[in-house]
Amino acid sequence: MNNFEYCCPTHVVFGKGTISRLPELIDKNKKVLMIYGGGSIKKNGVYDQVKKALEGYNLIEFGGIEPNPKYETCKKAIDLIKNEGADFLLSVGGGSTLDATKFISLAAKYQGDDAYDAIMVRGETVGDAIALGDVITLPATGSEMNNGGVISRLATDEKLPFHSDLVYPKFSIIDPEVTYSLPTRQTINGIVDTFVHVMEQYCTYDVNSPLQDGWALTILKTLTEEAPRVLANPTDYDTRANIFWCATCGLNYWIAPGVVQDWSTHMIGHELTAFYGIDHGQSLAIVMPRLLKNQKVSKAKKLAKLAREVFGANEPVDLKAADIAIEKIEEFFNSIGMKTRLADYGIDSHEAAQKIKERFMKRNVALGEKGTITADTAYDIIIEC
Ligand code: NZQ
Ligand code: ZN
Repeated sequence: MNNFEYCCPTHVVFGKGTISRLPELIDKNKKVLMIYGGGSIKKNGVYDQVKKALEGYNLIEFGGIEPNPKYETCKKAIDLIKNEGADFLLSVGGGSTLDATKFISLAAKYQGDDAYDAIMVRGETVGDAIALGDVITLPATGSEMNNGGVISRLATDEKLPFHSDLVYPKFSIIDPEVTYSLPTRQTINGIVDTFVHVMEQYCTYDVNSPLQDGWALTILKTLTEEAPRVLANPTDYDTRANIFWCATCGLNYWIAPGVVQDWSTHMIGHELTAFYGIDHGQSLAIVMPRLLKNQKVSKAKKLAKLAREVFGANEPVDLKAADIAIEKIEEFFNSIGMKTRLADYGIDSHEAAQKIKERFMKRNVALGEKGTITADTAYDIIIEC
């Protein structure tokens, strides 16, 4: 096992009726900016619950964060903070709203003109951030318990990730009941995103980490069992709760310490979203099966273990079991209604492969746990998608 450090400072409050706990979590003397998305929280009652809980607070609002949040929108919230002031940010929504809130919390403290270029492109360290917390409404990103975010820029068709320990939420309220209102497409996106987060941390090469591997595989197995249940019965509390906790644990870095990671499916998927606007979960479902095929030999041992422990394969030869794992993963995605081919979304694979290759060549990209997924490899993977 490799050396590691682990510290997650987020206070998690999980369960039914937990939005009412907000006053215990936010200091009454703070001026709170509540940030939300396109309006789902006004339809499902979450907005009213938050307003009620924060009665008597000095509360201002910013709505309109879009899925795959844009720098151009975040900038409007930053201007609002610069004009009206705010010393606590409360994100109420999915991963996009929370990622935008994290970016806004840093960018509002950035002194220069172009916070996107500084934080996302040049990776400049911003030494301060406005404290933030969240009511997370979509199980997918794990953003509620991690220090990352992904922000797009319309002007340049970019979608880039950032990390800063300053943006760990102070608290995250996770009430599975708020997910009853999710459109089926978003429930499916969230399951696939979670599945792929676990894969990106588990499916590399073996460093003798049976505990982390066991946790990872249990998350995957739980997802395969709970996914058909949630589709059949979207208001079953226990199923929604299990899926939410899988999503949070899928990317709160709990399965990551000491193991080798590979975020190449995400990095290629982000480009598909940047160029074609498809959902994050959809992009991953398209890329991962082909990427695993391309990288099968170096990932064979972990894929074989997955085939046996998650999908019950009875195949003693690792390379054959690896093939079974890849097939079963795609079958699982398809079985819950997730389409896994570029053509399903009207995207031409030759065009996509060429565009992404050119971009990766400019960035001199070398992805994967061994740095072997270059621009050319990405081209080979996408052409097969
Ligand atoms: O905007 P509103 O009206 O709120 O509607 C949203 C949005 O249309 C809706 N929604 C959310 N909760 C709902 C709901 N509708 C009904 N009931 C609810 N309870 O769902 C739609 C999608 O929301 P969004 O926040 O975009 O989805 P998600 O949570 O999947 O976030 C995706 C973003 O997170 C990034 C992705 O790249 C993408 O930009 N990621 C962030 C990560 C992180 N911070 O660690 C890691 C991930 O790999 C991922 O890259
Ligand atoms: Zn993801």
